[in-house]
Amino acid sequence: MTMISRRTFMLAATAVGALAVAGVAIAEVPKLAQKDTYKVGFAQTESNNPWRIAQTNSMKAEAEKLGFQLVYTDAAGSAAKQVADVNSMIAQGVDVIFLAPREEKPLIPAVMAAKKAGIPVILLDRSVDPSLAKAGEDYLTFIGSNFVEEGRRIAEWLVKNANGKSKIIELEGTTGSSPANDRKKGFDEAIQAAGGFEIVASQTGDFARDKGRQVAEALLQAHPDADIIYAHNDEMAMGAIAALEAAGKVPGKDVLVLSIDGGKEAVQAVVDGKIAAVVECNPRFGPKAFETMIRYAKGEAIDPILVNEDKFYDASNAAAELANAY
Ligand code: AHR
Repeated sequence: MTMISRRTFMLAATAVGALAVAGVAIAEVPKLAQKDTYKVGFAQTESNNPWRIAQTNSMKAEAEKLGFQLVYTDAAGSAAKQVADVNSMIAQGVDVIFLAPREEKPLIPAVMAAKKAGIPVILLDRSVDPSLAKAGEDYLTFIGSNFVEEGRRIAEWLVKNANGKSKIIELEGTTGSSPANDRKKGFDEAIQAAGGFEIVASQTGDFARDKGRQVAEALLQAHPDADIIYAHNDEMAMGAIAALEAAGKVPGKDVLVLSIDGGKEAVQAVVDGKIAAVVECNPRFGPKAFETMIRYAKGEAIDPILVNEDKFYDASNAAAELANAY
């Protein structure tokens, strides 16, 4: 180090230290030391469906493979519990926190508390409100699918394959969550741009099977001429199929059902003709999540968004792909 660069470095380090002591926010993600092993937190949002279970299994398998200690929590569908879970991880002195934030705004305090405690956060699958917390400043990066694109892909399939059907019931995911917001945006924009369709009702089913069934039942009664159901996830799509069958309608014939997630049960429903098409939302996070963390510890620059690849299933490939679905 030359004299000038050393002096510059010392001045900068002193300034950062003074800001931290004064409690002024620093626009920098906490560093992660290079170590042989780590204590890693994974704050899961809930475990009520195959997608969540596949994600958790992938994270646990990778931690075990690497010999890292995993502190795992399940918020059981409560954003308040998830904030408490992250605070508990901070108290336990984890090195890094993987967070799947249930909703975009309520998890901001958890992200900020980890940053204040000097623990880097990596967001998995769901994001937080970008006006309140930023990748590369408040958390390291977001790893997950492009939810807007998922909604757009299913809409584009519908535009080509509707065969005269046009009246859509939309079953939204958890209100305030990034997949619900973005899957709606991608789908609704593409449908409006195509023209000739009408979204007759759009209501949350909270990403849950029974809630999806109940909401579909009520909306089918209110809109008996609806001939398309777009569900933001497989669980609600399976609930909608139960509602259709209870109403004496044939899914796939009277009403086209569209879904997102691509778990085995839904891909089997495509094979059976009950779901018309499903965009996969890839839940296999483990390898990429831990690889990103290790790259960060080595001092590599990490992109603010790392996008997962998603497959697409319809009658043309569902039978052949069934064995590969999670
Ligand atoms: O964030 C991803 C979504 O959350 C999945 O589509 C859904 O099934 C899960 O609960």
